Parts: sequence; structure tokens; C-alpha cells
Amino acid sequence: MPATVLIGLGWGDEGKGRIIDFLAPQHDYVVRFNGGPNAGHTVKVNSRIFRFHLLPSGMLYPDKTCVIANGVVLDIDTMRRELDEVKSSQEKHAQLFVSDRCHLILPYHKMLDLAEEKVRGKRKLGTTGQGIGPVFADKVARKGIRVCELYDPVYLKDKLENILQEKNKILTLIFGENPLKLEEVYEKLLRDAEFLRPFVTDTLILLQKAYREGKSILLEGAQGALLDHELGTYPFVTSTSPMAGMVSLGCGLGPHQIDRIMGVVKAYATRVGTGPFPTELKEEIGQYLRDRGGEYGTTTGRPRRCGWFDVPAIKYVIYPNSPDELVLTKLDVLSGLEELKVCVGYRFESRLIEGLPAFAEAFDRVEPIYETLPGWREDISQARKPQDLPKGALEYIKFLEQALGKRISLVSVGPAREQMIALE
Ligand code: GDP
Ligand code: IMO
Ligand code: MG
Repeated sequence: MPATVLIGLGWGDEGKGRIIDFLAPQHDYVVRFNGGPNAGHTVKVNSRIFRFHLLPSGMLYPDKTCVIANGVVLDIDTMRRELDEVKSSQEKHAQLFVSDRCHLILPYHKMLDLAEEKVRGKRKLGTTGQGIGPVFADKVARKGIRVCELYDPVYLKDKLENILQEKNKILTLIFGENPLKLEEVYEKLLRDAEFLRPFVTDTLILLQKAYREGKSILLEGAQGALLDHELGTYPFVTSTSPMAGMVSLGCGLGPHQIDRIMGVVKAYATRVGTGPFPTELKEEIGQYLRDRGGEYGTTTGRPRRCGWFDVPAIKYVIYPNSPDELVLTKLDVLSGLEELKVCVGYRFESRLIEGLPAFAEAFDRVEPIYETLPGWREDISQARKPQDLPKGALEYIKFLEQALGKRISLVSVGPAREQMIALE
């Protein structure tokens, strides 16, 4: 398979990182094409846990090539930290390339992200505080600074001076923050430029060459489709697209060059940050899932909200992503629950609706319709083939396949590499 895209179909944190780590051995390239350091992808190898925010989750394999493509916004300090962590744990790792077109997260982006959250008050989005909204706003407003601009110091200083005039006014006059000093920001960027230099290339050309040579490419989505700013639960979304279609824009492989689309769903629903969540469980069972699933944010450490599997929400984003198959993660977390509920429809103002309300506030008037399935008691973390799973778990998988109209090809039953079941 030359090019496979793997994306999340929920509100993020579906377990994409560990699935990428699992699939990486069968591929030559692992590529990030969207998002930025708001992503937190966990990979567990033996007892060591890696949390990748910017580096592709194939970094631990020395024979792979990893790419941070143009669609990713770069925080150079985060990248440096992650690279140091990988280097400290193993002598050899994947070769890394960074696109010369990546936009840079600068100090004012993070400051504005936090300041804007503060003024939103009760309408805050619960962002990760990484500067994502402001950096993508600058990108479309054509005010961004890209990696390639770092290598023309005279141009860079002039542009930065111009940008800081505006940003400092906003920071001081609107948000009451301290202004940023041109020299400090500029000097740091020059140092960053030298750190980045060995990695920088035109990654579109790199990937097209790899494609021509028949190399297999694994595309690692960040966030989840329900956080998409076009079709997700706007405005409680992120500022980049987590959809499969983002691949073309985010790394330059065309739609016809994609052979396989895999969608990752968690065996229950989670969401970190604010926003609609019709199947949220605020009491005991929600806490049970949080504890058993270790549902605390990889980037921020915030407790994740937990709830029952939401078929209408996932189905809504299955349409625009058209996955060939699904991967079901964290099935082991459901062990021990007497019965499981799955939301199979929404009632809105006493009527059954197809799809999701466009207006986030209207989700308050959504009443989930549940089907109840029998649970299972057994610990399934040692299961390695379908026959090892109890009847309840197999029925749950079958039920989801039917409700979503998609085949589930892989099921994970724990965070470690080997805790995976391939379904026929
Ligand atoms: P990502 O952002 O989609 O890569 O997901 P995160 O890494 O943010 O969150 C997934 C969390 O669940 C991580 O802590 C993983 O180690 C863990 N995890 C992944 N798959 C499984 C699984 O099948 N079972 C259990 N118990 N944990 C898992
Ligand atoms: P991974 O790749 C879960 C959420 C934030 C917030 C909203 C906007 O690990 O699945 P932002 O900082 O992007 O402006 O925040 O989006 N969010 C995520 N939630 N997993 C992620 O990434 C997320 N990236 C952003 O919590 O609600
Ligand atoms: Mg995550």
C-alpha cells in the first residue's frame, strides 16, 4: 500500500499515536500533515512512554523516514525537547525532515491564545494553550512566518518588526500584557534557524519522489474529525482540519495518490476541553472510564470528559472522510461494566434527526437514544486473537460495525505494542 492515511474520528485522543507506531514497521515514511503541538500522541514501548506532540509517531524506528509536512505548525522548542527525549532513550532513530513551508508558532501566538481564552469567559473553548488559533489565523491572514523565511535575516527582522508593532498593540492595549522585545524574539529565531537547518527541505518533492519510487507512506492525522472547524462542533473545534482530505493540502500528496483511509474510534467517547458532548457521563461510570482508561490529556494533563459511544456523531464524520476501515481502541477499558450503552440516534425537540445540530448551543436540546448491550467481566488485555475475546466484547464490536456501516479491522486491548487483535 503506497499511501495510507490514519485519522481520528472522535474529539481527538482516539489512540492514533499507538496505532501509527504499530503500523509503522510496514511503511517507509511516517508523515504529520496537520495540527501542531496541540496533538499529544502516546506510544508505549516496553515500560517506556513517549508523548509526541510534533514528531511523527514513527520516530522510534531507525530505518524509517519521518516528515513534518507543510500543514503542521511548528513550535521549535517542543520539537527540540522531543528530539532530545528520543535521542536520550535510544542511539538510533528515524531520519527527520521538516517542510520549508511550515508556519512557526511565535511567543505572541501563545500569549494571544491564553489571553483570548480569558476574555471568552464562560464561552471559553478550553484550548491547549499552544497558540494554535492565533497561528492559523495569521496563516490565512497572510501574516505568518514560515521556516523558509528564517534564512534571510534582513528580511526576517524587518518583517518581525512590522508584525510586532501590531501584536504588541493588541497584547498591551487590549489584553494588558507586556510587549515583546524585537531583539529577543529575533535573536531566538536566528538560533532556532540553525537548529532547524539540517532538517529543512521541500517535503512535497521529497514525498512525491518517495511515492514514485514505490515507497509506502503512512500519514498520521492529529486531532479528530469532530474537532474539524468546517464540519465539527464549531466553535468548539481546532483551527486546522483533522479530516482525511487535509492530506493533499497538508503534505502535497494528491487525492488519487491515497490508497487507504483508516479511521480510529475509541470504544467509548471522550472529549477534553469544552463543547457539546451528548453522551457524556458525569457520574460514576464516567469516572470509571476515566480511571481505567487513564483519560487525562497528553498535552495539558486535564481530565478528559468520558461518555458512551456516540454512533450519530461518528457517522456524521464517517461520510466526509470515507474510511475504508475502522480501528477500535481501548476495548479493554470497558471490562467490568455490567451493561454498555451505545447512542444510536438523537431526538431533538421531540423529533428524530439525522446528523448533528449545526449550532453548538442546540446540543443542549439533544436527547441521545440508547441501546443497551450486555457487558463482560473478563480482563481482555491479554487477548491477541478474536477467539480470545468474550462473547460480550465480540457482540459489541459487531454492533458497532453494523451501526456505523464500516468494517473494524484492528482492535486494541491495551497501550503496548503487542496488545492488538487483527480481525479477519
Ligand atoms: P492520540 O492523541 O489519538 O494518539 O491518543 P492519546 O495518546 O492522546 O491518548 C490515548 C491514550 O490511551 C494513551 O495514554 C495511550 O497509551 C492509551 N491507549 C491507547 N490504546 C489503548 C488501549 O487499547 N487500551 C488502553 N487501556 N489504553 C490505550
Ligand atoms: P490529538 O492529536 C484532543 C482540542 C482542545 C480544545 C480544542 C481547541 O492528541 O488527538 P486548540 O489548542 O487546538 O486550539 O484547542 O481542540 N484539541 C484536542 N483534543 N486531542 C487533541 O489532539 C487535540 N488538539 C486540540 O482540547 O477543546
Ligand atoms: Mg492525544
